[in-house]
Amino acid sequence: MTPLEFFKSEKAQLETVARASRAPSVHNTQAARWKFSNQNKISLYADPSARLNVADKSGVDHLVGLGAAFETMQIVLSERSLVMLKVRMSPPGELLNGHEKILEAEISEKIGMPDLLAPFVSQRNSFRGVFEKASQKQLQTLNKEISFFERAQIVSELSEVENILNLADEASFEFMKDENYLKELYSWMRFSRLHPRWNVDGLNADVMALNFFERSFAAGILQPQIFKSISGLSFTQNILDEAPKHTATSICLLITKPTEEKAFDTGRQFARLWLHITKAGFAVCPMSALADSPRTRDILTERFRIPKEKSLMTVLRAGIVPEGQQKISPRISAKKLIL
Ligand SMILES: Cc1cc2nc3c(=O)[nH]c(=O)nc-3n(C[C@H](O)[C@H](O)[C@H](O)COP(=O)(O)O)c2cc1C
Repeated sequence: MTPLEFFKSEKAQLETVARASRAPSVHNTQAARWKFSNQNKISLYADPSARLNVADKSGVDHLVGLGAAFETMQIVLSERSLVMLKVRMSPPGELLNGHEKILEAEISEKIGMPDLLAPFVSQRNSFRGVFEKASQKQLQTLNKEISFFERAQIVSELSEVENILNLADEASFEFMKDENYLKELYSWMRFSRLHPRWNVDGLNADVMALNFFERSFAAGILQPQIFKSISGLSFTQNILDEAPKHTATSICLLITKPTEEKAFDTGRQFARLWLHITKAGFAVCPMSALADSPRTRDILTERFRIPKEKSLMTVLRAGIVPEGQQKISPRISAKKLIL
């Protein structure tokens, strides 16, 4: 049986979609849906309910996630000697069961080795706990692995890391003071295993690296109505600050993109870059608030002399995950990802 014939089986499609679903997405919203046809066509659709209407009004993060899903699918297909060719982006508004069509491509057979990043698709995870400090040798490995990506700049000097992490706390706190932003964020957080979507999507207390006390506490004070009444109190920001926990053991990676680049293409590049970071033995926690807040974005753009033709896409806190502490974020079952 040829790779293409084998891929027509439901089993092969489910396995491939399950592997590709390990792609990162903002708040773990997992917008990507797939459709296969007998004529070797594959289509990517987006679930509109996975869009963040407040935090991501422009839809950039949504498209970045879809680009990351596409790139991850391409990498996973390479393990089966397959490739998506003749990719055609769809015009806006083409719907199937309420899902928006993003693109259509042809699946063909491909000669050669799988993508070198394929083994890292299932090893890549966000990590929000306290890192182990990377050694000089580990930093060199990271540098070597990502140096050809002009879009990543490593910041390892302690005072610079501290500044960036403090700015990240300020930016997050500013966003959380917007009640609608917090409501939306809260709707993707799962503080208890009893939450019906604990193991499906969003951010559960395990992947947020909250201990028993922290999860009860956060579940309480982050309730939008409660947070609204205490966000003006001076101690509130202090208790949410993350920087003091992470400064000594983290490094930061400033991620830029060509200003004119389409968000979908940024997502493809971001997925590859993150897999290279995984290959170097590092894990990361994105701090998107730093690039989303005009104030902190401008400060970092000036401080790190980001040229006009590029813009800050995100900042990653990075380091080494202590043995046994990585938690794996949940995914929607592959059956539900195929239309
Ligand atoms: C565009 C984008 C923005 C993200 N921003 C953040 C962020 O600000 N904070 C965070 O903790 N994770 C962020 N993430 C990571 C996602 O939450 C994460 O990929 C998702 O929960 C799936 O978990 P995984 O990366 O462990 O597979 C972002 C991911 C993407 C693609």
